[in-house]
Amino acid sequence: MGTAAPLVEMTGITKRYGGVLACDGVDLTVRAGEVHALLGENGAGKSTLMRVLSGDVTDHAGTISIEGRRVEFGKPADAQQAGIAMIHQELDLVPALSVAENLYLGRELRTRFGAVDRRRMADRTRELLRRTGIALDPARPVGDLRVGEQQLVTIARALSLDAKVLIMDEPTSALSSTEVQRLFAVIAELRRGGTGIVYISHRMDEIGQVADRATVLRNGRKVAEFDARRLTAEQAAEAMVGRSVQTLFRAERGAVGDELLTVSGFAVRPRRPRVGRREPDGIDLVVRRGEIVGLCGLLGSGRTELLESLFGAGTPGTWEGEVRLDGRPVRPRGPRHALREGIAFVPEDRRGSGLVLGHSVLANTVLSVLDRLGVAGFVRRGKEISATERSVTQLRVKLGRIADPVGTLSGGNQQKVVFGRMLLTEPRLLLLDDPTRGVDIGAKSEIYQLLGEIAGRGIGVLLASSELPELVGVCHRVVVLRAGRSVAEFDTAEVGEAELLAAAMGERVADGSGPVVGTGRQTGGGSR
Ligand SMILES: Nc1ncnc2c1ncn2[C@@H]1O[C@H](COP(=O)(O)OP(=O)(O)OP(=O)(O)O)[C@@H](O)[C@H]1O
Ligand SMILES: [Mg+2]
Repeated sequence: MGTAAPLVEMTGITKRYGGVLACDGVDLTVRAGEVHALLGENGAGKSTLMRVLSGDVTDHAGTISIEGRRVEFGKPADAQQAGIAMIHQELDLVPALSVAENLYLGRELRTRFGAVDRRRMADRTRELLRRTGIALDPARPVGDLRVGEQQLVTIARALSLDAKVLIMDEPTSALSSTEVQRLFAVIAELRRGGTGIVYISHRMDEIGQVADRATVLRNGRKVAEFDARRLTAEQAAEAMVGRSVQTLFRAERGAVGDELLTVSGFAVRPRRPRVGRREPDGIDLVVRRGEIVGLCGLLGSGRTELLESLFGAGTPGTWEGEVRLDGRPVRPRGPRHALREGIAFVPEDRRGSGLVLGHSVLANTVLSVLDRLGVAGFVRRGKEISATERSVTQLRVKLGRIADPVGTLSGGNQQKVVFGRMLLTEPRLLLLDDPTRGVDIGAKSEIYQLLGEIAGRGIGVLLASSELPELVGVCHRVVVLRAGRSVAEFDTAEVGEAELLAAAMGERVADGSGPVVGTGRQTGGGSR
């Protein structure tokens, strides 16, 4: 067994984009039945390396062997033929097509008579979804699904390929902890079957749990390889950034002022209900000036819908209850109106957040403040440039020039651009939906420090996150949502992650006896 050729052997992989050396002589091996983690800061070259392996990037130097045989991929289909499947970091589904159609796009199952076999596709889809732990109607258009659900669909699609090598590029960035655990069970099963897995994630706690080995990239180079089971978050972070970093997420929690946002008995009764959305259905919460309030809840709890409604981007319908900003009732008619009222929003899916990928970083950064920069011309151009440069420096966006198209930035750096754009609007209230999704550990702690500073200026922050350590480390208080309702509220000085998770799942934590949480309720079915 030990003498067999590795499943994948990449040597001296080099890929250049203009002046950027995305991969610089990288070696990587993946053995059968191994989970190999790939770590590195935003822009380190992880996705590029894997796009080489999956036949997506072909103009590279260096060689690839699969089970000891040299291969050369001219297109993704060649790699698929060789047994390689990739779950892409950016969701690559067709919104208008159904779940089943997306799973089998370009390789539709056919009946004996050559017709598309919808029934069999639906059955297989249902089965694959069950393996990933969700029950979804295969006929539903993907565009109606939440980002987390879409992510599970891309995972199911990759599973359907029965690949020898499965590349997962940030597969959990939009999943809640229960779904992550479910995915890990699937990975364990695949690994037992001899599949080799490359696993990319910025969530350090996942690496020790799921990976055997870890390779760290920095500026396109391989800088370290570790036994993942013994790797601490500090060691990993240090290798990633080349200096020691703060791995604990802590925002400076400053003094809190008067009530800024008051939401009471808030519900949205949609004019036309949209499938798969959990509209607000009884929300009570308060955000004070200078306060960071967390929103905790499982997938489908209605976190996103609540934030969207407050930003005027939710489902059209009747509002019940009250929403007040600085004591005055508000009801944004749309995002522009919301921004004028001083409400800014960073959505969870940067794809849907209005980043125009073909436009420059500059154009994308100043998009929401165009009317404040004055009339077009020389002076205004100067203001745009300096505002963008300040934003890029403050958030440490890794890029060539601010004139580069935002689409050429790595995923995490695109997210920072969205964040920067919203900060420029100088909001009174900042709504954030998983703002650090896909952002590396160094930048994450910078963003949270920044949140602390923002709140320190008297801005109120409402922060939805699926990462419990961040909610506990960053927020003054956390409001727990379940099925569109606010069901509990905690002071983070008094409770930890276990209590939050239990409340989100609808379980009680036994008094003082520590966590009794787990996935029991979700997986169920067994005897007690
Ligand atoms: N299509 C492209 N055009 C130009 N530059 C690119 C392109 N794709 C990637 N790059 C550049 O190559 C470098 C590596 O990017 P890559 O996407 O591989 O990073 P990553 O490690 O996956 O980062 P993240 O954690 O943010 O996803 C970055 O500097 C990025 O800007
Ligand atoms: Mg990437």
